[in-house]
Amino acid sequence: MNNYITLSDIEDLQELIEEALQLKKKNTSAEAGKGKTLGMLFFNPSLRTRLSTEKAAKLLGMEVMVMNADKDGWALEFEDGAVMDSNKAEHIKEAAAVLSQYCDIIAVRAFPDLKDKEKDEAEIVLKSFQKYASVPVINLESATGHPLQALTDAITISELKTDKKPKVVLTWAPHPKALPQSVPNSLAEVMQKLDVDFVITNPEGYDLNPEITKNVQVMHDQEEALKDADFVYVKNWSSYEQYGKVLSTDISWTLTGDKLQNTGNAKVMHCLPVRRNMVIADEVLDSENSVVIHQAGNRTFAAQAVLKRLLEKK
Ligand code: CP
Repeated sequence: MNNYITLSDIEDLQELIEEALQLKKKNTSAEAGKGKTLGMLFFNPSLRTRLSTEKAAKLLGMEVMVMNADKDGWALEFEDGAVMDSNKAEHIKEAAAVLSQYCDIIAVRAFPDLKDKEKDEAEIVLKSFQKYASVPVINLESATGHPLQALTDAITISELKTDKKPKVVLTWAPHPKALPQSVPNSLAEVMQKLDVDFVITNPEGYDLNPEITKNVQVMHDQEEALKDADFVYVKNWSSYEQYGKVLSTDISWTLTGDKLQNTGNAKVMHCLPVRRNMVIADEVLDSENSVVIHQAGNRTFAAQAVLKRLLEKK
């Protein structure tokens, strides 16, 4: 692995899941990262990604440097040939080259603006780091994807499934703010690589990018979709069709205890943070069916497996 920008950087998903589960079992420090430094740049807030990746790096023996790039760093210019007469004081060409001297791996979080689909899909921040850094780059959630979260989700389902081919339902849920499609995009991508029966349910107007969902069944009737589900993955996202818009906050899509009755006693997943009683009801999050804390715990082992591959260049 040379970078971890998208799920397509994983050569053998099954092997990587196994490796993460082995790392979880061992619970010991490794030597792979001794004398190496991970630099993490956050252009947006984070709890899990920041701390689980830092923990993973330290378990591998790495040093870690973290910067809130949106607040503490110079505002970066990403345009080639720009006359830098605005508030942007540093060009990505210098920033990425300098960071590459301090760090052996650079990890970046940069959300979309959700205003201009074409611009967001160009992934300018992440791709510029990849272009101008001379060390591997990790995506800590970008405009269109969250591959560390998706690897975690694949690990969690592989670990907790009781059926050989479980039914996994991704359901949209209401939220007051416009959220990116990055988590559902990456989940849809990774589920198509696993031996699961994968269904997406969302209101009209919320279909994800068809280039990502491809032949996945998309249902607009949530009750029908949830029938006999083994895993229900709850997530809000803003409209892709009317890009970045909140078209509905209909709380009849909130995942409640009643809705779980219709499933095969499904395990409930969410990447977190989650808005209680808006996205998922208290009675679900506080029940035995919720695996969200277990899932968040697996973030460390997903990050550890990826970092180890990058360090070993395997
Ligand atoms: N799931 C996730 O990425 O959490 P954070 O935004 O807290 O990192």
